[in-house]
Amino acid sequence: MKTEILSDKDENDIKKAADVIRSGGIAAFATETVYGLGADASDPKAVEKIFIAKGRPQDNPLIVHLDSAERASDYAEICPLFTKLAEKFMPGPLTVILPKKSTVCDKVTCGLDTVGIRVPFYEPARKLIKYSGCAIAAPSANISGKPSPTKAEHVINDLSGKIDCILCGDDCAVGVESTVVKITGDDSLVICRPGGITAEMLSQVCGNVETDPAVLTAFSGRPVSPGMKYKHYSPDAEVIILNGSEEQIVDFLKDKTAFSVICFEEDTVLKGFRDAYVLGSKNDSSEQAEKLFDALRTMDKKNWIKTVYARMPEKSGVGFAVYNRLLKAAAFKIINL
Ligand code: TXA
Ligand code: MG
Repeated sequence: MKTEILSDKDENDIKKAADVIRSGGIAAFATETVYGLGADASDPKAVEKIFIAKGRPQDNPLIVHLDSAERASDYAEICPLFTKLAEKFMPGPLTVILPKKSTVCDKVTCGLDTVGIRVPFYEPARKLIKYSGCAIAAPSANISGKPSPTKAEHVINDLSGKIDCILCGDDCAVGVESTVVKITGDDSLVICRPGGITAEMLSQVCGNVETDPAVLTAFSGRPVSPGMKYKHYSPDAEVIILNGSEEQIVDFLKDKTAFSVICFEEDTVLKGFRDAYVLGSKNDSSEQAEKLFDALRTMDKKNWIKTVYARMPEKSGVGFAVYNRLLKAAAFKIINL
């Protein structure tokens, strides 16, 4: 298949991508979190194409993207807590899981009776949804098991020849996927996947905010979000998180070979190691989130690297999402120095 390369800086190109989706095709597009791969959420044949292009497991449901939270009640049973969350955080990097309506086809939700609703902040994405006239079902636009794409080139590398078009846009400002929450009561919710909307922020509108155990452990039970059980974001090399000072890390790496590091701006020695990737300042979790997936993809391209040692990130704010994604890339391997 020939994949048409379009630009979201051009209104006509956004309309072309919208036509692709309206007529049953699949199109990749930028959002503020990561690039998505979209199809008409009411069309099972179109949605099936997404699963095939990505090699996505058939039991991992897709998020439904709308151009306005006001349309949520067309696709899901909303409740007062949803309305409060929507007023505060939509558009934005938040997905809320609600009981689904039949306007969303079962292929999108993998037969579940719930659906994830998200309204992206990035304006060209909302225009695409509006012009298509559809609710757009979209997972991240990567091959399943690879780090999510945060630049157009990541999508081109993964999906050229497999999808109808790629609507290229800005690099993704948040850089990690949306926070996924499930409403569990009148004033309670559970975080199934951490992201740009943090637990502290959610606590401003919801009295009881819990975190699903699958976020921090190799959970053996059933996570609230099926996607959390898969080993995600994994480069070809082994990833290991190192918990310690720069000095301790430099000492630990003395006798190691065929490795590189993901480190911080402040790490004067580690920065100089071959193919080291500087994630940003130690104290800047937003910058680390923005760059993490590019770091993992960059490491992937260097065949000589057999082990990637990553600095332990700060876990507060969006840093918690960075930590969660790194943990998964490392298959939960941490060395405490
Ligand atoms: O930021 C994002 O959320 C990006 C952009 C494109 O919007 N999308 C994204 O989609 O990350 P995906 O498919 O890569 O991740 C969706 C996550 C998965 O962990 C999935 O299991 C969960 O959301 N999910 C979707 N629908 C669900 C449902 N009804 N119940 C529980 N979990 C659900
Ligand atoms: Mg994904």
